[in-house]
Amino acid sequence: MTNIEAIIDPHLCSRIKEIGRLSTLPQVTWELMRLLSDETTTSEDLQKVVEQDPALSAKVISLGNSAYYGLRTPATTISRAIVIIGFKELEFLALGLGLADTFDLRKVPYGFDGEALWLHSLSVSWTAREVAAATRLVDSGEAMLAGLLHNLGQIMLVTNFTVQLQKLMNYVNEGHSFAEAEAFLGLWHEAVGYLLARSWGMPQYLQDVILYHHRPEIASGNRNIVSVINLAIELVGLTDFGLEHEKSRSERPGGPEVLPQVSRDEKDKILEKLKNTLPLMAPAWLQMMGPARKKAG
Ligand SMILES: [Fe+2]
Repeated sequence: MTNIEAIIDPHLCSRIKEIGRLSTLPQVTWELMRLLSDETTTSEDLQKVVEQDPALSAKVISLGNSAYYGLRTPATTISRAIVIIGFKELEFLALGLGLADTFDLRKVPYGFDGEALWLHSLSVSWTAREVAAATRLVDSGEAMLAGLLHNLGQIMLVTNFTVQLQKLMNYVNEGHSFAEAEAFLGLWHEAVGYLLARSWGMPQYLQDVILYHHRPEIASGNRNIVSVINLAIELVGLTDFGLEHEKSRSERPGGPEVLPQVSRDEKDKILEKLKNTLPLMAPAWLQMMGPARKKAG
């Protein structure tokens, strides 16, 4: 997939470029992305960035006091929450809250399950950290960030291209796979996400993850982190938190094994951990999306 513009629907392509030009992520989200992928970040850096945004600050504190992260002594300030929850985890939560604010997946139309897409993204991010720690091939913060954003294209389709999404879901409802439906319409979510990530100037490793997360074997660069995310998708697909249409692609029966350097035993251990922790974290992750709103369609 080298010349993306040549394979994607031209009308959609120019709309994505227009969105890329006219809108971007809020400054605080960019800063949180930078912090999460920078190993030298300190808790003071994180505190400074989160406290710039009072609304985000209040949400982070409230999430820190939720049932999963719940503390015996409630956290009332960001610095206290960082001490108790741990600052890597707080970075993840703060960035998740920023993304949930920008892309309102609770308003998705036409029966697409926005909550499932959100839980999938956070679960892959969480799992990517475990895989990164097991392989030591990539930085764990970058792996978490890549996990959060790997399906940027699906998030864009769901939040900005509802007419195209409706057509896509019609094909799926007729019995076609999600991938077949994307091919009929020329709107592969990997390409949609890549075009946006490129026009926003995201780091190259994120662009590669977004474009190749289902095909690490053809990635032109950053193959380690692309493979880490692919394996994370495969593992999440074995829990209750994987999206059905993401699973089928990740398995690629007969395809090369992803990250053969991670033993079956290690994969089983990570999977066991996921099965125990994801159900406990899911309610807090859903809380990030804000109060339930009426779904359209
Ligand atoms: Fe995907």
